[in-house]
Amino acid sequence: MREFLNCLGTKVLLADDFTDLSYHVGTYGSNTLWVCDSNTAKMVRPLPTPNVILEAGESSKSFTCLERILSTAIDSNLGRDCTFIALGGGMICDITAFAASIYMRGCKVILIPTTFMAMADASLGGKTSINFRFAKDIVGTFFPANEVLICTDSLRSLSNKDFMNGFATVLKHSLLTKDDSLFNILAAQKQKIMDRDQETLKAVITISLQVKKSYVDNDPYERLGIRSALTVGSTFAHALESMSRLQWSSGQAEAWGICKSVEASKELGLCTPEFCAGVIKLFAYYGYDTNYKIQRGDWMDYKNQLGKDKKAVNGVVNFVLLKDQGEYEIRPLDDEIVKKLVMYPSV
Ligand SMILES: NC(=O)c1ccc[n+]([C@@H]2O[C@H](COP(=O)([O-])OP(=O)(O)OC[C@H]3O[C@@H](n4cnc5c(N)ncnc54)[C@H](O)[C@@H]3O)[C@@H](O)[C@H]2O)c1
Repeated sequence: MREFLNCLGTKVLLADDFTDLSYHVGTYGSNTLWVCDSNTAKMVRPLPTPNVILEAGESSKSFTCLERILSTAIDSNLGRDCTFIALGGGMICDITAFAASIYMRGCKVILIPTTFMAMADASLGGKTSINFRFAKDIVGTFFPANEVLICTDSLRSLSNKDFMNGFATVLKHSLLTKDDSLFNILAAQKQKIMDRDQETLKAVITISLQVKKSYVDNDPYERLGIRSALTVGSTFAHALESMSRLQWSSGQAEAWGICKSVEASKELGLCTPEFCAGVIKLFAYYGYDTNYKIQRGDWMDYKNQLGKDKKAVNGVVNFVLLKDQGEYEIRPLDDEIVKKLVMYPSV
């Protein structure tokens, strides 16, 4: 395993392959609690005990499952010096790190992300959470993991839907840095990425995490308006996801939302038409729906969902708008601009 990054005290290590990963994990000893979902539990045989296997899917990011993790730790007499090990996607990483942050006022946590989303984004930065009363990530803490172990071998078994879901985040990160290296790989290596070529995926994930680190290091608790840049597109996207009753996957919605955010920048003269066209072309090149429009009759529903955005301050919704690669502005938008961008025009 090779350490390639350190962010908020989290060591991020890259494995050559599963064998390399297994060897490293073997050094943790037995004072551990493994947390997996019903799919990722099959990746380690035999799964060390004690362990908790949660049903795969977002609905497991709940108080009930949190209680299962904490109860297992107590029943197994794990002390404060124990380590929780998360093996899974963003759902498992988020709930395990949250459980670790509150177990005996905080024990160690190691994240082994197994999805693109978790490797390129969710495992870094210390945000932990569960969902509560239908509100996503409404309960949580900032608690950076001690280690994140990345093994791209596990991406081979990921469904195409989950692969593309996480890949949208990588495309986003390529736009949040002035360094062209990620953007250039994405523009030139589509076939290798889609074929899940291991060396290309390693390169893409390591640069993606370096971009995330550059924002997180400067604003660890998301209080200075710097880390919020990482949520570009999410205001447009979350409203669409909620309105469509989750018919849209988060990555597909995120891709659409980022395109809307650059179109808004273009409307306001914040970015050039060429930059806007380049961003939309990149997402369309990877097959994301960049042109989707909501029906006119759905506008009020969409507007209501926008109002629930976490970045709203005193009821005013703020949007992260990209001005150029690595440059952004956070500001409200007039309803008329939003309408023009997201809705079919009147005939
Ligand atoms: N903490 C953060 O900063 C942060 C950032 C982004 C997203 N998130 C969170 O991440 C979650 C989404 O993460 P996700 O997209 O990884 O979803 P997920 O964890 O639900 O995983 C998606 C599916 O992939 C399966 N899976 C996992 N690894 C696999 C593998 N290697 N092969 C085959 N199947 C596999 C899972 O069992 C699940 O069915 C959301 O809860 C979101 O809020 C957190």
